[in-house]
Amino acid sequence: MAAPYSNGSQHSIAQHSIAQHSIAQHSIAQAGSANALELRGVTRAFGALLALDDVSMTVKPGERRAVLGSNGAGKTTLFNAISGDFPPTSGNIRFFGEDITEFPTHERIRRGLRRTYQISQLFNGLSVLDSVYLGCRGVSRGRFSLLRPRRDDALVQAAHELVAAVHLSAIADNRVATLAYGQQRQLEIALALSGAPRLVLFDEPAAGLSPAERIELIEILQALPSHIGFIIIEHDMDVALRVVEKVTMMHNGAIFKEGAPADLDNDPQVQALYLGVGHE
Ligand SMILES: Nc1ncnc2c1ncn2[C@@H]1O[C@H](COP(=O)(O)OP(=O)(O)OP(=O)(O)O)[C@@H](O)[C@H]1O
Ligand SMILES: [Mg+2]
Repeated sequence: MAAPYSNGSQHSIAQHSIAQHSIAQHSIAQAGSANALELRGVTRAFGALLALDDVSMTVKPGERRAVLGSNGAGKTTLFNAISGDFPPTSGNIRFFGEDITEFPTHERIRRGLRRTYQISQLFNGLSVLDSVYLGCRGVSRGRFSLLRPRRDDALVQAAHELVAAVHLSAIADNRVATLAYGQQRQLEIALALSGAPRLVLFDEPAAGLSPAERIELIEILQALPSHIGFIIIEHDMDVALRVVEKVTMMHNGAIFKEGAPADLDNDPQVQALYLGVGHE
């Protein structure tokens, strides 16, 4: 069976078998030199409001990108368009060369596209490990099995690895409800990494975190296997600029500027917008 990744990285998160069979083979065949993500003229209207206005952008495989912008700039709507939660009203989205514009969310997940949400979506009654185990099961082939669910060793092993990757091993058996807020956000990252993600969309993972929790988040993101690309929406420039190689700045539903973190950090227009001078 073809490996889902072309760079041959030796990363445990990628290696568990879960999603090696859950990514559609034809999308693997198309991966080749295609971009991870390609948006062309993506527009999303809510009544008269253009929450996304003719957005075109390209993300390479394994690339780490930040999306910045003031409240209401269209960042989450961009994620909704890419993930399929709210498909675009016009425009076109390709994922590793395949047109996914009309695909339902689960088909995008099957192809290795993942996301986290701005508002927590965890099950409070489960333990940390069980949450991640179920996340892994959800993207594995056996998820619709009529047989009684049983503990699959490979999935348990994968869940343990993911829990470790987000620094939660010490509290793996604790119930989600007992976790500190920052730990819950770390758990959400583990869930987004279950299966074999090729691109993960993180919607403000640092929101509400303490300075120490932010440092931990940066460490977790920096340690992700290099073949896993991600786009992170982040208000805190310090977090964003430490984990990405490119920044897209949005304003009023459109891309305002794009470039290397250092370039945007020194850009007077970006600074003005970010400090609130340019807010509508
Ligand atoms: N489901 C919806 N129905 C109507 N309007 C919406 C909907 N979702 C978003 N909008 C509007 O689209 C615009 C962009 O919203 P979006 O949530 O994408 O902004 P954002 O950049 O993520 O902001 P924030 O930093 O506050 O999270 C806003 O004006 C918002 O009110
Ligand atoms: Mg948002």
